[in-house]
Amino acid sequence: MTFKKDIQNIDDIKILVDGFYKKIREDDLLAPIFFKIISTDWQPHLDKMYLFWNAALFGIRGYTGNPFLKHSTLPIRQELINRWLQLFNETCDANFFGEYAENAKWRASIMAEVFLKKIGSNVENQTKSIL
Ligand code: HEM
Repeated sequence: MTFKKDIQNIDDIKILVDGFYKKIREDDLLAPIFFKIISTDWQPHLDKMYLFWNAALFGIRGYTGNPFLKHSTLPIRQELINRWLQLFNETCDANFFGEYAENAKWRASIMAEVFLKKIGSNVENQTKSIL
């Protein structure tokens, strides 16, 4: 059995992010959505995600962006969110174990929930009356 360490620094974040988006690029559900926006060069997106997770997990400045706005035009729905989280959690668990790894999965799930509630096209939102 290989001993897994926790996510400790930006090099670990790169392992997580690179592994995760490799799975995304091979995924039948999610790949088409990403390829519409990122057709060939994934490195700028990966670089941005390294900075995002570095800020989210370690509070290190560097990420500037608005994830909510970026996702507001995407066809976010429960099935896609489930797959996204599944691939993210799988990548995390395959490489890391510990407090920061748990924190990364937790943060991803919170953001996923917000995306789904605020911009999702889930049936519940469409049928719920606002009054
Ligand atoms: C169904 C689920 C999701 C899909 C299809 C999706 C898709 C995308 C796509 C296509 C981009 C590139 C946008 C662009 O450059 O214009 C992006 C960026 C990003 N995504 Fe997601 N995403 C999903 C869920 C999540 C979740 C749960 C998180 C939480 C960690 C997340 C975090 C981000 C961040 C931080 C960016 C960079 C935003 C920026 O440009 O500053 N995404 N996503």
